[in-house]
Amino acid sequence: MEDEAGNRFLQDAKAEAEPMTGIIGRQGELFAHVAAAYCDAGETPISNADLYAAVAARANIPPKALDERTPIGRSGQKHNLIRRAMRWHQQTLKEAGVIEHADARGVWRFVSTTKNGLHEPLAGVRLVAFSTRLGVAIWGDCMDVFGALREEIHLVVTSPPYPLAKARAYGGPTEPEYVDFILRVFEPLVRNLAPSGSIALNLSNDIFLANSPGRSLCLERLVLALHDRLGLHLMDRLVWSNPSKAPGPVRWASMTRQHLNVGYEPIYWFSPDPARARSNNRRVLEPHTERHAALQARGGESRCASYSDGAYRIHPGRFGTPTAGRIPRNVITCGHKCADAAKYRSDARALGLPVHGAGWPLSIPDFLIRFLTEPGDLVVDPFGGRVSTGMAAERLGRRWVCAEKIIDYLRAAAPRFASCDGFSIPDSVSAWTGK
Ligand SMILES: C[S@@+](CC[C@H](N)C(=O)[O-])C[C@H]1O[C@@H](n2cnc3c(N)ncnc32)[C@H](O)[C@@H]1O
Repeated sequence: MEDEAGNRFLQDAKAEAEPMTGIIGRQGELFAHVAAAYCDAGETPISNADLYAAVAARANIPPKALDERTPIGRSGQKHNLIRRAMRWHQQTLKEAGVIEHADARGVWRFVSTTKNGLHEPLAGVRLVAFSTRLGVAIWGDCMDVFGALREEIHLVVTSPPYPLAKARAYGGPTEPEYVDFILRVFEPLVRNLAPSGSIALNLSNDIFLANSPGRSLCLERLVLALHDRLGLHLMDRLVWSNPSKAPGPVRWASMTRQHLNVGYEPIYWFSPDPARARSNNRRVLEPHTERHAALQARGGESRCASYSDGAYRIHPGRFGTPTAGRIPRNVITCGHKCADAAKYRSDARALGLPVHGAGWPLSIPDFLIRFLTEPGDLVVDPFGGRVSTGMAAERLGRRWVCAEKIIDYLRAAAPRFASCDGFSIPDSVSAWTGK
């Protein structure tokens, strides 16, 4: 049953990007196919004839429909309406700077280079970058990807762009825009969230007011807005303690010496219905310490003691019952380097693609997915980056969908999935060089 549900969603997700029937008259879809045809062609210029054929193939338009001609306007001159619509969308792409005129008449090529040399899709374009039997990485703006989702989600686990004074290469919203930006992205996700589902949101605590050592209150505003406007309940603020975090904030810690160096990021955990949350700490138990194992082996405490005005009492036999493991504390301690991140970086370099500079170690999504979901559940990440959430979900037998707007990151993420069951990558993505 789980597989059926998973495959249904994967098929829906792929269908968004792959051929659709009944496209005529559905201009948004025809537009996505026109953009996708240029995307598939990569740097190779394509003629209008090639464009018509490619779009017809993608959208299941019968060849004879491309030849039918209808009288238009007062002159009654005959035109083919589908080709005309495709040329209209071609013009839109040109005006948006996505395609530019090449050397021959009617020939265009795909360009979408941002000022940082990264490659984003035009609004509305969603393409499967790669997929496995359990999951799919989609190139597209997360609002386009998840706005169309019709499947129950069990966990949204994500690290959005932070409103930093100096934005990362992939950009991001400013501090005043932040709450509305996150709410816009989360609204369709919350609509599809199972009552027992969760949202785990990794944010930065280090957003400063302009030219001030004072921290912004945008996290507090965001938590309240997620509660007041989307009906989410705060379950916990987990701490990701990162001993390898770079020193900073440089200006306020190293120069004016008013601040301490930062060492953690918060992970906000929300639930739409706390009593029903499917979280289970039995799935994340840690091994007992040697000391505790020895205590259990000798039948527990032998003393009587009372601490904190009687709040904690110890009596003979206490902690003597064998248990499966230690319940973790809500502080996850790990650096951002890990074998999975190192493999991603070496794959990106081997492909000559820019390396994503703000990724998680695999242990963060791994822990959250194990704690908050069961095998077969659907895990999504609207800000996929290196697709670490997808990798963790894949290894844990959860279904997954990750959206990411920069194709360069997705292309470099793909090789890590190559040995996964059912791995598939479209030729156009596989051939992507970013040049
Ligand atoms: C902090 S990074 C996420 C890193 C990720 N957790 C990882 O481990 O690789 C945020 C990502 O969101 C992507 N992004 C920003 N806005 C987006 C949008 N509207 N739709 C999809 N992706 C977006 C950025 O390109 C960036 O890769």
